[in-house]
Amino acid sequence: MLVTTKNLLKKAQKERYAVPHFNTSNLEITKAIISAANKLNSPIILGTSEGEAEYLGPKYIAAIAKAASEEVEIPIALHLDHGKSLEFALKCLKSGYSSIHIDGSDLPFEKNVELTSKVTKAAHKVGIPVEGELGHVAGHSILHKEEIKTATYETLLTNPTRALKFVKMTGIDSLAVSIGTAHGIYKQEPRLDFNRLEKIRNLTKIPLVLHGGSGIPKADIKKAIKLGICKININTELRLAFTQSLKEFFTKNPDEIVPYNIFPDVIEAVEKVVVEKIRLFGSANKT
Ligand code: G3H
Ligand code: ZN
Repeated sequence: MLVTTKNLLKKAQKERYAVPHFNTSNLEITKAIISAANKLNSPIILGTSEGEAEYLGPKYIAAIAKAASEEVEIPIALHLDHGKSLEFALKCLKSGYSSIHIDGSDLPFEKNVELTSKVTKAAHKVGIPVEGELGHVAGHSILHKEEIKTATYETLLTNPTRALKFVKMTGIDSLAVSIGTAHGIYKQEPRLDFNRLEKIRNLTKIPLVLHGGSGIPKADIKKAIKLGICKININTELRLAFTQSLKEFFTKNPDEIVPYNIFPDVIEAVEKVVVEKIRLFGSANKT
């Protein structure tokens, strides 16, 4: 069934696991995510950034999510990831998304509050929950050749008292925090600020979201879940599995031209990553 993230995250918060959020940008990745989640009986969040949504078409992906949710028993949410404007959030709401992330984290605090409040008000009117973001998780979901600005840079980290103010002022349902991760896979070892995470959890008391989940060591993921992370976003590791297996396929079968002969291997490779993450996040059998 297609659900909102509201109850998914509340249950995860209570039972201390994280709901996996996987970005998708095509049917093959979407199928791999749903199939793996269904096998492990895990709730799942399908996420699209604005770019991914534009590529897929918000109405197309909403129809795919709806169709998938009729095929399987697990709860599926369709989430706008890193929405940047009220207009785009409204477009996704109208298309049938069941959850919205509005990311004003690169704006000054007051402007972030203003944008997030507007989106929250509009989404709540139609019963859809909103994730806000304070502190900035830098980088894109790609393979970075060098070190990048992770949130160990003080200016990018989420300030706990400001986070409480932000939650109260905006009325958001969940909060994306910046505690040392960045998007993508990069050279340096991520260093997560767990003290900060604990403070944010104790003050805000709402479900917290970890972005930049690719390449984070398993022990750190487990500790972050213990300290209040209820949703973890993964994109780069799926992109990597997708493209690597596609390259391998064509190395072995340079003359193949039939798409439905090409993609089963690719889907399987993506599924493997999804299974691994679901097990790590503890969301199997949590439907
Ligand atoms: O919003 C999406 C994510 O935060 C994905 O991050 O590409 O590092 O897995 P990632
Ligand atoms: Zn993100």
